[in-house]
Amino acid sequence: PVDLSTDLGGVVLPNPVMTASGCAANGRELHRFVDVASLGAFVTKTVMSQPRSGRPTPRMAETPSGMLNSIGLQGPGIRAFCEEDLPWLREHGARVLVSIAGGTAGEFADVAAHLAASPAYDCVAGVEVNISCPNVANRGQVFACNPEASAKVLTLVRERLPSGTPLFAKLSPDVTDIVEIAASVLGSGATGLTMINTLLGVVIDTERLRPQLAAVTGGLSGPAVRAVAVRAVWQVHAAMRAGTLPEAPIIGVGGVRTGADALELVAAGACAVQVGTATFHDPTAPRLALDGLAGLVAAHGFDRFADVVGIAHERT
Ligand code: DOR
Repeated sequence: PVDLSTDLGGVVLPNPVMTASGCAANGRELHRFVDVASLGAFVTKTVMSQPRSGRPTPRMAETPSGMLNSIGLQGPGIRAFCEEDLPWLREHGARVLVSIAGGTAGEFADVAAHLAASPAYDCVAGVEVNISCPNVANRGQVFACNPEASAKVLTLVRERLPSGTPLFAKLSPDVTDIVEIAASVLGSGATGLTMINTLLGVVIDTERLRPQLAAVTGGLSGPAVRAVAVRAVWQVHAAMRAGTLPEAPIIGVGGVRTGADALELVAAGACAVQVGTATFHDPTAPRLALDGLAGLVAAHGFDRFADVVGIAHERT
């Protein structure tokens, strides 16, 4: 049997497959199809300080190769999350990666402080700082497009969390130099990186000749972005190998459905993989990706998953 465990920077998970933020709500619906405790970790929908209804509908559209969303960070707010969702996940044995966001760096810090004070905090395997939501009024508000703004968020959040909590910065593919952003957050308290958030897109309805989403733009996910995610993981892992970036765990996310899709991100340098859009077609997708990945690792003759991480860099 293959040793599937993976080290997230101090916290060891039994296996490397997670849900992706926003694609499995806060666990209850998914649990009817996949035992949340069987996943490496459960990643929550991004939670902010206050309840939010998000952007106007329609706010989801399909394209032949992916999905576009402009949800706009809908959610219950950190108080309700800590009272209802986190205790449920804890009771069901999940290791939880809590995705948090704020409109300002101070709001990120407030959300982190509230989370850290929760009686259910012992099920938190890490915090994923969502600095890369594309569904904001202007690009200047996307922290992950600016190294200084990203660094400030990570610094403030780090101060509010116990030092042992792995802190992952979720990066945007819509930047000129993702290695520069990675350097900035890793130099400001991030334990690791999650790559990538969705890619900004537009889908036109050719019958009505108008944009399909009320907000016009949205984040593209699914098979269409997989090669972009693999590229981002590749570039950052290569910089770590070259010594120009500090070594840090990378969580890969973008268009993973099968075990082979997951293996691409792993071979490029990811030590864990998230499954998002595929869950909408088949809620058991994270489970299938895990079984597929485990089978492929064994078929390639490895007995430890960790030995496959970044292996493609040795074969160019
Ligand atoms: O595509 C995304 N949609 N990425 C995010 O980070 C947030 C989400 C939303 O709620 O709009």
